[in-house]
Amino acid sequence: MAKIKAQPELMWKRTYSKIDFELIHDDAVHYLESHHFTGKELLYCDPPYLRRVRRKHYPIFKYEYTMEQHEKLLEVIKALPCMVMISGYESALYGKSLKGWHTHSFQAATHHGMATEWIWMNYPPPVGLHDYRYLGDNFRERERITKRTKNWVARLKKMPVLERNALLSAMSSLNEMN
Ligand SMILES: C[S@@+](CC[C@H](N)C(=O)[O-])C[C@H]1O[C@@H](n2cnc3c(N)ncnc32)[C@H](O)[C@@H]1O
Repeated sequence: MAKIKAQPELMWKRTYSKIDFELIHDDAVHYLESHHFTGKELLYCDPPYLRRVRRKHYPIFKYEYTMEQHEKLLEVIKALPCMVMISGYESALYGKSLKGWHTHSFQAATHHGMATEWIWMNYPPPVGLHDYRYLGDNFRERERITKRTKNWVARLKKMPVLERNALLSAMSSLNEMN
């Protein structure tokens, strides 16, 4: 397969010291193959969509991916020691190559209306979230969860403090069993 040569004039790296953030402009595979991963990282890849599975077949990004580039990217990410998440549309290539990975699909707005997007993860779905505001697949679900949470909190607030603590203690041991 064609090796994608990183073009030196396109490669640059910018470090923002105040916010501990590094912006690297490089070919993804070139970067992933040259970076040393310790295994503690979470890598999220959002490559250009496979042309044959999306509704419109003309290019939408200035830089698109060929089938070979998709294959190479998948081969590289599968060999990484860290947590990896990759998004795209359902396809035979991704389905076969990432067999055994956890998947989740959701509706997303695209240039051509709503489409089903998929994410594949090489790690189990989380049992805790950093931010619960986005829990739920759509607006209605998020609203339902927010309301329910508020109701529970209101009920807990009304309880005698020790009874509330007894409940919270039982709840936290529920979490430890997860
Ligand atoms: C699905 S879009 C990702 C958009 C991005 N998540 C965002 O929110 O802006 C795919 C991106 O991959 C970029 N791309 C194409 N070829 C690439 C390559 N060889 N290495 C790195 N990025 C590439 C495209 O230019 C495009 O911006």
